[in-house]
Amino acid sequence: MNDDSSITRRNAMAAMSMTLAALWTAAVAGLSALFITAPLRAVTRRREVDLGALSELSAAFRAVDLRVAVNDGWHSREDAVRVYARLDDAGQPLVLSATCTHLGCTVQWNAGVGEFQCPCHGGRFAPDGAVLGGPPPRPLRRLTAEVRDGRVTAELG
Ligand code: FES
Repeated sequence: MNDDSSITRRNAMAAMSMTLAALWTAAVAGLSALFITAPLRAVTRRREVDLGALSELSAAFRAVDLRVAVNDGWHSREDAVRVYARLDDAGQPLVLSATCTHLGCTVQWNAGVGEFQCPCHGGRFAPDGAVLGGPPPRPLRRLTAEVRDGRVTAELG
C-alpha cells in the first residue's frame, strides 16, 4: 500500500463519515419537526354537530345550545355555541348561527317581533339572517345542515 492509496482511503472514509453524520442530523431534525408540530396538525378544522331529531324541529325557531370541543394547536377547550334551527317551507332544516356579525354577541330570537335582536348594540336580523338594522356588517351565518337517519347535523365551520 502506498501513501496515495492511503490518502484516498482516508478521504473516502472521511467523506462517508460526513455523509452519515449529515443523514443522521437530517433524520433527527425531521423527526423533531414532526414531534414539535404535531399539535398543529391536530387543529380542529371541521366541526360537525348533532342538533337532535328532525321530528323535534318545527316552523318556529328553536335555540340549540352546544358545547363544542376545539383544538387550536397546543390548547384544547370547549366552546359554548348557540344556533337557531327550524324547518323551512320545504321541510328542510334551516340553521343560523346566533353569533352577531358585529362583535360576536349572542343574538336572541324575538318571536313577537319576528326578528333576531342583539343585546349589545341593537343589531337586528330578519328570520333569514339578513341585516335589518344596527351596526352588523353582514347577515347571520347560515350553517350547512343535513338530515341523516332522522337526525339533523350542521357544519359549524
Ligand atoms: S355585537 Fe351585535 S350589534 Fe354589536
